[in-house]
Amino acid sequence: MKSVAVVGASGAVGDRMIRLLEQRDFPVGSIKFLASERSAGKSATFRGETMPIEPISRDAFRGVDIVLSSTPGAVSRQWSPIAASCGAVVVDNSSAFRMESDVPLVVPEVNPHDIAWNKGIIANPNCSTIQMVVALKPLHDAARVRRVVVSTYQSVSGAGMKGIFELETQTEAAVKQAAAPTPSKFAHPIFGNCIPHIDEFLPTGYTKEEMKMVHETRKIMGDASIEVCPTCVRVPVPFSHSESILVETERPISVAEAQALWSKASGVTLIDEPARCRYPLAADAAGRDDVFVGRVRQDPSRDNVLLFWCVSDNLRKGAATNAVQIAEELLKLEPAGARA
Ligand SMILES: NC(=O)c1ccc[n+]([C@@H]2O[C@H](COP(=O)([O-])OP(=O)(O)OC[C@H]3O[C@@H](n4cnc5c(N)ncnc54)[C@H](OP(=O)(O)O)[C@@H]3O)[C@@H](O)[C@H]2O)c1
Repeated sequence: MKSVAVVGASGAVGDRMIRLLEQRDFPVGSIKFLASERSAGKSATFRGETMPIEPISRDAFRGVDIVLSSTPGAVSRQWSPIAASCGAVVVDNSSAFRMESDVPLVVPEVNPHDIAWNKGIIANPNCSTIQMVVALKPLHDAARVRRVVVSTYQSVSGAGMKGIFELETQTEAAVKQAAAPTPSKFAHPIFGNCIPHIDEFLPTGYTKEEMKMVHETRKIMGDASIEVCPTCVRVPVPFSHSESILVETERPISVAEAQALWSKASGVTLIDEPARCRYPLAADAAGRDDVFVGRVRQDPSRDNVLLFWCVSDNLRKGAATNAVQIAEELLKLEPAGARA
């Protein structure tokens, strides 16, 4: 049984991580919930027991085996090394350590072997990247992915509790025909809008969110030659990110072959019956753990290019589920005696 700390327990991902530890029956011997001083007086419930959310501190990490962390990057940069120095393994959802050469960046369906070389911190990738690489992995194994062009339709919960709140308050104002509060989380009103702007712009014209998809995909897939060309867009959807993906492979791959590969791939559910209006939908994926794939088509002018639609719950497989799966893989690495 493990001593677990959930850091960022008051947040959108933290809440899902607590629920997933329950649902997946993770061997929790003891658990503590940590966040900032702002959460003083708040509590969280695990297996029927309600416990206070404590302020983060060095002392809070003593005796903890596994830290599941979901705080802003700057907070993780400060505290994750402290937790690791206290003997815990940290699974970190922030972008703080993802591209560090001594930190594995892991999606268990793609590169579980990288968990073994962790030095106390394992990074969880960006939500948009996770669902894309889970879908690409079977194609890469069969026909080698060379280039990916992706446009995302990302839900507001990707921006945490404040993102959800902003869509809710703007929707409420629109229904009441009242003046909407000034946007604070997003650069523009998100209600009735699509905003092609997630994270900060770089001098190249891409955003940091887009470049995460480029760099993280290569690191997770272990292939620096994969070309990724992304456009990331925030849409007024509460949960689940959707992605339109064009993938070019070294060897041509037919629609039927791709569908067959996805049908047996771990973590993927194929929904591809357009004639019956059956394809992946954000609302259907919310609260579920799989990556959903459909609308599979051949490029009309290239036989080595496929297009598809890919949907997954960003708070679950895009964050909390992936983190808990990593913790489960960590347990498998322990000698049998230590697990008993
Ligand atoms: N949302 C997603 O879909 C998603 C997906 C993948 C990765 N991530 C990453 O996961 C992290 C958390 O995202 P989220 O969506 O859960 O955000 P969120 O809802 O805003 O939650 C942030 C959490 O961090 C805590 N926190 C903030 N400042 C802190 C500090 N100084 N000390 C200790 N705790 C502090 C907050 O505690 P208080 O409530 O006390 O402030 C809260 O529990 C981010 O790095 C994000 O990029 C998010």
